[in-house]
Amino acid sequence: MEIDVLLGLQWGDEGKGKIVDYLAPKYQMVARFQGGPNAGHTLKFEGKKFVLHTIPSGIFRENLQNLIGNGVVIDPITFVRELNELTAVGVTFENRLFVAKKAHLILPTHRMLDAASELAKGKEKIGSTLRGIGPAYMDKTGRNGLRIGDILSPDFHARYLSLKQKHLKLLAQFPDLPFDLDGEEQKWMEAIDEVKKIQFVDCEYFIADALAAGKRILAEGAQGTMLDIDFGTYPFVTSSNTITAGVCTGLGVSPQKIKEVYGITKAYCTRVGSGPFPTELHNETGEKLRAEGGEFGATTGRPRRCGWLDVPQLKYAIMLNGVTQLIVTKMDVLSAFSDFAIGAAYTSEDGSLSQNLPFDISDDTFSVSYENIPGWNVPLDEVIDWNNLPKEATDYLLKLEKELNVPITMVSVGPGRDQLIVK
Ligand code: GDP
Ligand code: IMO
Ligand code: MG
Repeated sequence: MEIDVLLGLQWGDEGKGKIVDYLAPKYQMVARFQGGPNAGHTLKFEGKKFVLHTIPSGIFRENLQNLIGNGVVIDPITFVRELNELTAVGVTFENRLFVAKKAHLILPTHRMLDAASELAKGKEKIGSTLRGIGPAYMDKTGRNGLRIGDILSPDFHARYLSLKQKHLKLLAQFPDLPFDLDGEEQKWMEAIDEVKKIQFVDCEYFIADALAAGKRILAEGAQGTMLDIDFGTYPFVTSSNTITAGVCTGLGVSPQKIKEVYGITKAYCTRVGSGPFPTELHNETGEKLRAEGGEFGATTGRPRRCGWLDVPQLKYAIMLNGVTQLIVTKMDVLSAFSDFAIGAAYTSEDGSLSQNLPFDISDDTFSVSYENIPGWNVPLDEVIDWNNLPKEATDYLLKLEKELNVPITMVSVGPGRDQLIVK
């Protein structure tokens, strides 16, 4: 069998958690392949709300395995907190949750380094979630990192101390930070003991065996394409490959195994943290989008920046990921607008229009040309049938489908598991 992939086409928070939770019963395994507790994936069902950071969004569905792949970075403290929250509502992990031995660990000092680096950047700061993601991936590529599998080795503690010492030397270059390292270290060590209770696997063989046994696997992305370390709005990005290519390295599977690629976009666009966002609205309309869409970060609670959908940006993301099916979320939010806009093209200084993103989308040598779209002004949150959508809403979706040249197969009209139109 093959692996299907679900990932974000914008700057994250497109509604991946909700859709993975919805799709999960069609699969036997859901696997996270990159990112870490910088992610916040929200699931709502039966009047309850859960935000997952490290654990895959298939965890609430029975008879399904959840795998945290080698491409993920894990902070034992937040991971165990999440495990405890799920245990409290009756979720079990035996034969349901697996962690790759090759996944890297986030140490307390990684979080300190993240904070120190952001502070030193001043106005140029990335707007990181401060979860230690960047420094943990730096240690991975710098070949200093500690991995989940290392927890079982007799010299784990010594290796931890040695890496911590390296970090403390680096931290000495920065001003002192308010951080209770002793306290956090103690929590981390206690959490490590809890993590040991979860089954560790050789991810690449685990996946290969599952595929050979005919299991269907859904790979769950975190962040979004524009936060990809190579193709995002560098340096305002995260430190992993968020695109489809990341599935191969983040789970240990070959490209031939990948089949459907579900790309998710909001019906408009948001971004949290710093960095370029060409279609951002710095006005009351942007504030209205934030209020109507409840656009506050699921991990940090920060207000999200809001703006219109950006067609060239989406084309770029669809190209990079090989998207085969498009999922549009938050259509209900646009009900609050009598009309709205989409970024239709990038215009350079000489007046020429382009559908390609410039090298640096933060420079001022281009502007975005907009196209106005008539709104529908009726609530959509109870619509579950494509044929019951107002004409203006279907016109908008069909227009996107035509421009982007990918079929829209799902439209989300609210945060709830069932507030979904499946075409
Ligand atoms: P993720 O990181 O991609 O999983 O997305 P987040 O959970 O960070 O952010 C998406 C937010 O939008 C969450 O609060 C969801 O509950 C909510 N949401 C998802 N789909 C819809 C939708 O179609 N309409 C509305 N109004 N909210 C949605
Ligand atoms: P999900 O999976 C939105 C952003 C941060 C910051 C930049 C780098 O919920 O969509 P990092 O902590 O990785 O060093 O931050 O990336 N960012 C996200 N924005 N959703 C996310 O995840 C994000 N994860 C990181 O705001 O700008
Ligand atoms: Mg999120």
